[in-house]
Amino acid sequence: MFNKRTKIKNLLSAAETGKEVTVMGWVRTFRNNQFIALNDGSTNQNLQVVAALGLLNDETLKRITTGASLKVMGELVASLGKGQSVELKATSIEILGDSDAEQYPLQPKKHSLEFLREIAHLRFRTNTFGAVFRVRHTLAFAVHKFFNDKGFIYLHTPIITASDAEGAGETFRVTTLPLNNAPHDEDGNINFKEDFFGKSTNLTVSGQLEGELAAMAFSDIYTFGPTFRAENSNTTRHLAEFWMIEPEMAFYDIEDNMNLAEEFIRYIIQYAIDNNKDDLEFLAQRLLDEEKQLPQDKRSELGLIEKLEFVLKNAFERITYTEAIDILLNSAAYKKKKFKYDVEWGIDLQSEHERYLVEKHFKKPVIVTGYPEQIKAFYMRMNDDGKTVAAMDILAPGIGEIVGGSQREERLDKLTARMQKMHVPIDEMQWYLDTRRFGSVPHAGFGLGFERMVQFVTGMTNIRDVIPFARTPKNCEF
Ligand code: 4AD
Ligand code: MG
Repeated sequence: MFNKRTKIKNLLSAAETGKEVTVMGWVRTFRNNQFIALNDGSTNQNLQVVAALGLLNDETLKRITTGASLKVMGELVASLGKGQSVELKATSIEILGDSDAEQYPLQPKKHSLEFLREIAHLRFRTNTFGAVFRVRHTLAFAVHKFFNDKGFIYLHTPIITASDAEGAGETFRVTTLPLNNAPHDEDGNINFKEDFFGKSTNLTVSGQLEGELAAMAFSDIYTFGPTFRAENSNTTRHLAEFWMIEPEMAFYDIEDNMNLAEEFIRYIIQYAIDNNKDDLEFLAQRLLDEEKQLPQDKRSELGLIEKLEFVLKNAFERITYTEAIDILLNSAAYKKKKFKYDVEWGIDLQSEHERYLVEKHFKKPVIVTGYPEQIKAFYMRMNDDGKTVAAMDILAPGIGEIVGGSQREERLDKLTARMQKMHVPIDEMQWYLDTRRFGSVPHAGFGLGFERMVQFVTGMTNIRDVIPFARTPKNCEF
């Protein structure tokens, strides 16, 4: 009769005393042979279970250790103790699974995030990761709700593809050819005709190109799936496997695109505030404690929740790439040679430049448009100046680039010219060009890096701490 249990979240929010209930969960702490803090993951709050003296024999008492799982029956009563309004007066306690106190790595004390990363299979049982992954869930749910309410179609784009949508050459190959004995063609190259798909294939870096195909029929679609990038970046904001949300809209220009992205980001933040207030308050306090170790000028100016509320209330700053370069060139940081990378028109903005714009200059999220065509993907629409494309990147405080998007090049001749210039294999992409041949329309879209968004909302500084099992260079545990 396991399904007769009540979840701790519901029990604590209803706080109906005098009721006979069954709860199940894992022991967080056990004090004075009497007070058990029990958690079942439904909320950050523990339920205080009181085992009256004499209820359990010595043998059972010894087995109530941190990490052990219990089934408890009893009566919910008003609590006299501090810290909770109700507690469970146990009438029976059954140990479902023991947890050897000598060996259990998660003792009730503060562990470093680095240590917890090594035991990622157990870290869900901590307050911090409980909060992070409940918020992650809520944000994912809000993504679907936002687009569903607007009539967007959720499109499942393929994980295995034969194209490199971003053209950055950072793909993971997918093959069943034997590594030590691959077949070769007459020219001595590996013969992918003999591979599983009869051609060279890789894991997708983005669902956008397939998304565009569907937008040319449904008008508005979005994808939300895993994407893979073999970029050797060992930073706090890069994963080799990350989740991306990519809406694609027909009859949209770059401005419509920016408006949707802003509305979308606000919506999912608001949804988390409305549904995970406890978790966010916990994470806000955690961040405050963590930042106490930093010098004053390195601490965040706003608390986590104030920062989120600020984003809800204030429009994002919108500037062009050219304006961004001018701001950087005129900055004290540039004049005092504080930037590691040089600044001139044409460079790809480095993370130090993005952070300067967002954290020092504007102190709010910034949307940068009109990037030089050389540094952006082939599908972006050429502007009338012939030098820049209708790209838009959204930069967020503490994170840097959180969204990358653009209006797409819908003019067949301009698109093929740009593909040629950028050595995109035109022959293999006739399916993509067909959308421009048959009823082409102005359209636009963007990609939001889901983990970066979760970082922004939870205040976690390392991206490895907002995905259950991180995949990064030289690391693929669990
Ligand atoms: O700017 P990106 O490369 O854009 C695209 O892939 C487009 N196809 C999106 C579109 O227009 N439909 O990636 C989009 C976002 C980035 O802004 C960033 O938030 C995230 O994806 N991202 C990563 N997140 C974690 N780890 C990585 N290695 C990431 N690379 C990109
Ligand atoms: Mg980008």
